[in-house]
Amino acid sequence: MSSPNAQDLIGAVENPPEHSSAAQPDAAALLFDTQEPPPFPELNIFPLEWRVETPMLQQIYDQARAPGWSPHTLPWDTFKADDFSLDERYAMAYWFTLLSVFDGSGPAVFSRAFIHTWETHEEDPVRKCFFSIVRDEVNHEEVCQRAIQILTPNGPLGYEPETPLGRLARNNIKWYYHNGCRYWTGFKNGITKFQLPILFASFLMGEVAAATLFHSMYQRTTMPAFKEAFKMIGKDEARHMAICLAVLRNVLPRLTDEQRDVITRQIRAGFVFLSGILYVPPTDFWELGPTFRPAHRMLEETARAAGLGILTEDERAENWRAAVLRLKGILEPYGVEFPALPEVGVDGKTVAIDPQDIIPVF
Ligand SMILES: [Fe+2]
Ligand SMILES: [Fe+2]
Repeated sequence: MSSPNAQDLIGAVENPPEHSSAAQPDAAALLFDTQEPPPFPELNIFPLEWRVETPMLQQIYDQARAPGWSPHTLPWDTFKADDFSLDERYAMAYWFTLLSVFDGSGPAVFSRAFIHTWETHEEDPVRKCFFSIVRDEVNHEEVCQRAIQILTPNGPLGYEPETPLGRLARNNIKWYYHNGCRYWTGFKNGITKFQLPILFASFLMGEVAAATLFHSMYQRTTMPAFKEAFKMIGKDEARHMAICLAVLRNVLPRLTDEQRDVITRQIRAGFVFLSGILYVPPTDFWELGPTFRPAHRMLEETARAAGLGILTEDERAENWRAAVLRLKGILEPYGVEFPALPEVGVDGKTVAIDPQDIIPVF
């Protein structure tokens, strides 16, 4: 069969065949034959609807529409690898690589959560707020990317370190990514396993941690590019925190006893995971090599001395303690028992956690 030429096609567009109206049935008559489709399955993303139950979330989203900053316009020209020793470069790249286990995973982790807000038919501003968080996390990931690429091109794993400290850093990084992969497996399952109040209590834990970290590093760093980056990321994280709080205000008053118990365990799980960047990784979840801890201390000290803005371990413990106590103040009025966090001197219920239940986001 020969295919139509261009002239035939133009002719068909200009002279469409006439429709006869004689064959059209009457709409009223057709109505007698309608049938309903089968019920919609669980976790589908239809029907689309645009309910607004929490106007505050709509306001937060409106404030988030323009991010107010961009990673590519930070003053990167003031941050030069040549200004630092090799070990200082490795140590700073190391810290941003650790951060990327939390913030670099943000785009994928929040994208999965974003899709879930459609599957569970959340009100429209919840979905839109999650969209803005995905965008923010892509920006945070880019800050990790740019810092690592300036300090160790093709890093973290495609760069060949030349000093013993650099090689220790690379070994530590691989162990962190090993745990990051375990977290991702748990998160993917947890997102559909846990109910909304539990997810958002866990999410709030991560956002409190992130806001705390970036606020303190913004105050401490001496480097203009990171002063600006930490300030803007800290603002984003404070907005993520406000989103979680707005959702929790709706769901916390209606918790069941079982949900309260799960939240207690989730807070402990979140603390254990997030301590990997806020403080030091506890042994409950983290699988680390034999040289990890002493190497980690050396690398943090070197990055701190270079001016990156990493607080001392004691200062971090104090900050982390203050942050979790704020969270305790939010949850306890709703009958949620707080878990014991002896690492930072917080008393509470002793709970065992399942590594598969680690689902906080950053
Ligand atoms: Fe983030
Ligand atoms: Fe966040």
